[in-house]
Amino acid sequence: MVAVKSAEPTHEVIEWAKLPARDEIAAHYLHDEQRLLDRLIERAVFSEDERRRTADFARRLVHGARSGEAQHAGVDAFMHEYGLSSEEGVILMCLAEALLRIPDSETADDLIAEKLAGGHWESHRGHSDSMFVNASTWALMLTGRIVKLRDARGSNPFDALKRLVARSGEPVIRQAVRHAVKMLGDQFVLGRNIREALTRSEDLQEKGYLFSYDMLGEAARTEKDAEAYFDRYLAAIDAVGQAAGPFSTMHADALYQRPGLSVKLSALHPRFEPGKEERIAAELAPRILTLARTARARGLTLTIDAEEQDRLDPTLDIFAAALTNSVLDNWSGLGIAVQAYGKRAIPTLRWLRRLSERTGKRIPVRLVKGAYWDSEIKWAQERALSDYPVFTRKLHTDVSYLACVRLLLSDPKAFYPQFATHNAYSIAAAHVAGGTATFEFQRLHGMGEPLYNQIVGEGGILNRPCRIYAPVGGHEDLLAYLVRRLLENGANTSFVNRLADEEAPVADLVRDPVEMAEAERSSSQQQPTFVRPREILLPERTVASGLALTQASVRLALFDEMGAALDDVYAAGPIIGGKEAAGADTASIVTCPHDQRERIGTVSVTTPKQADTAIEQAGAASHAWNKLGGAKRAQILEAAADLFERDKARLMAVIVREAGKTLDDAQADVREAVDYLRYYAVQARRLFAGPVLLPAPTGERNSLILHGRGVFACISPWNFPLAIFTGQVAAALAAGNAVLAKPAEQTPISAYLATKLLHEAGVPGDVLHLLPGSGRLGAALVKDTRI
Ligand code: FAD
Ligand code: 2OP
Repeated sequence: MVAVKSAEPTHEVIEWAKLPARDEIAAHYLHDEQRLLDRLIERAVFSEDERRRTADFARRLVHGARSGEAQHAGVDAFMHEYGLSSEEGVILMCLAEALLRIPDSETADDLIAEKLAGGHWESHRGHSDSMFVNASTWALMLTGRIVKLRDARGSNPFDALKRLVARSGEPVIRQAVRHAVKMLGDQFVLGRNIREALTRSEDLQEKGYLFSYDMLGEAARTEKDAEAYFDRYLAAIDAVGQAAGPFSTMHADALYQRPGLSVKLSALHPRFEPGKEERIAAELAPRILTLARTARARGLTLTIDAEEQDRLDPTLDIFAAALTNSVLDNWSGLGIAVQAYGKRAIPTLRWLRRLSERTGKRIPVRLVKGAYWDSEIKWAQERALSDYPVFTRKLHTDVSYLACVRLLLSDPKAFYPQFATHNAYSIAAAHVAGGTATFEFQRLHGMGEPLYNQIVGEGGILNRPCRIYAPVGGHEDLLAYLVRRLLENGANTSFVNRLADEEAPVADLVRDPVEMAEAERSSSQQQPTFVRPREILLPERTVASGLALTQASVRLALFDEMGAALDDVYAAGPIIGGKEAAGADTASIVTCPHDQRERIGTVSVTTPKQADTAIEQAGAASHAWNKLGGAKRAQILEAAADLFERDKARLMAVIVREAGKTLDDAQADVREAVDYLRYYAVQARRLFAGPVLLPAPTGERNSLILHGRGVFACISPWNFPLAIFTGQVAAALAAGNAVLAKPAEQTPISAYLATKLLHEAGVPGDVLHLLPGSGRLGAALVKDTRI
């Protein structure tokens, strides 16, 4: 175990078995959206009177925000002032992100010159005259997705920067960019360090705001980074505690009037991810415990932020470990954020309620909608999960939010609700549902002022407390946070975006999501749906399915299957004409590259005579295979894809052992192989079904007929033992060729299993031959003129 700097041992072994079970949470991970929504609607239902009052409050907030001084105090003011709606502003901001990472001026100037000279930017021009669209464009560019960019007049904004550089020179631009970033930082970050933040918070505290300081740490990559963030948090707790002044051991209600800190667990450990539970329990749990103890000692609260859906399980582990530790007995200051866009939100809250019952502690729960939506959708698609872990329609997240509001308010003993939202309807609904209950609102620094300035302090229209989540840190740690904020501001479905759009009618802004969802449910009209991850390439083909390896239950079931597959002994050898043949070197043992003691099987290599027989048979068989036609060959390749998916655990087990791949990489290898099979099936159907008619400009008939070329040798490398092997073979087969497959010496067993599956799917034995052997065999095949 790595020594944990300044952290204490947990004192107690975590008794996981004593904690409430999380089956219900797991069962909701990729739940069907519509069925879940139906249940949430029931939970979120408001009476007629409540609905009317909510709409009244929400309307009042919107009118107040649009007409009040506060209107130009927030992100929209920033966008007006610093020109994100102008071409210069957008470009400066784009360059800013890159420049932030460049330490010396010379390289920075080179970058400016290169980017502007390039001219390829023009292909990325889009259409927008809205500052918010420009802002989100910029945010997308920051994340590496360079998208549409064109100002209202349609000129290329990069020309503007060229003009600017021509006029002023790179050093001036560099200064301007650095300045712009500083201003951007100031918009969303309360201070570069905790002292500065505490000073800046004073005026807002005067107005009646509470604070939760966030030290902008996330996604630590190294132990050193994690330690640095940990130290920064400890120091911040001290500073905030001192500024908050003395306190006597206090009742939770008094504690909730004091400042707090917010922390992302990914900042405190470089491997805070599923599958690393033991390390996390040993190394991260003590850190959070130390932070919580210190916060407690200073009379502050500590909230664990919600991050990516993959991290929900480990987050709940760490939260439970700390909450149940006797060191924190009789303290209701450890809180957690829950994301309503997650399909597991309600079960998570139910689990937290059980945890509260077991510990007798009230849990502050910050209810948010969730800040990682775009990424969650993309990751689910990349992994081809059976469904999404988050809702795919904003309306559904809004309904879920209200259902969670109801649940949190239903049990004041278990929860201290903290409703974090910048949406006037969500705020009003929580206020109305809350009645006389104690709870607080929360907003982010730099956002939501137009609404909350009407709420907090004396004369505030809702008379409820509001806490500001206040990021603190330097520009080097700002980027990920900033991108999330800009995406939020830029999305045209975001409430803050619509509030700033004077053209958006108030009535539209304050529509009840539950009513809308109910109306949709009872209408016969089909609602727009998001295609599921495996369906994104339909109608062309289904994406190779992915297992959610982040889920412990999925991993355990897979390990069982993989373990059983490894009980078998694999004896790979030549397969000639569909028959397994004993080659030379029958005793050659295949071992695991990362642990040579581990044996996976044996391989016998192809003799020259066997290779010769295979070449002859392949040559003779290729004609019939070619004549079979693209459509039939496609069916066979598709059948093979299904068989590869059927045997996925076995294939993964062999790849892990034989090529030394990690679980994730082994799954990727199998999935890529399956995708190749389906892809080439599509190509076979498209290109080899028969003559393709070509344009006939003078009335003649031009047709293109594609056919196989005879015998192909496919010599594959070891680094993608299944995917590249299968891809090469499938391509050659699809095009109507017979194949001699010579796998890498290091990975014959993966290739052997793949070949057997291709035969099982219907590829004739004399059309596909497996020839394990050394590079010498490969060289001989390459030279052979029959191939
Ligand atoms: P709205 O405009 O009403 O909602 C926007 C939200 O709707 C998006 O952020 C997204 O969650 C959801 N959404 C948008 N499009 C879709 C779609 N197509 N399908 C489904 N859902 C969609 N976020 C975290 O993840 N973790 C945190 O710890 C966290 N802490 C926060 C603390 C505070 C004080 C605040 C105010 C916010 C925090 N957030 C956190 C951010 C929060 O999750 C939201 O991103 C943000 O508040 C926007 O939600 P809204 O209700 O203000 O705005
Ligand atoms: C985020 O970092 C506020 O925790 C939230 O996006």
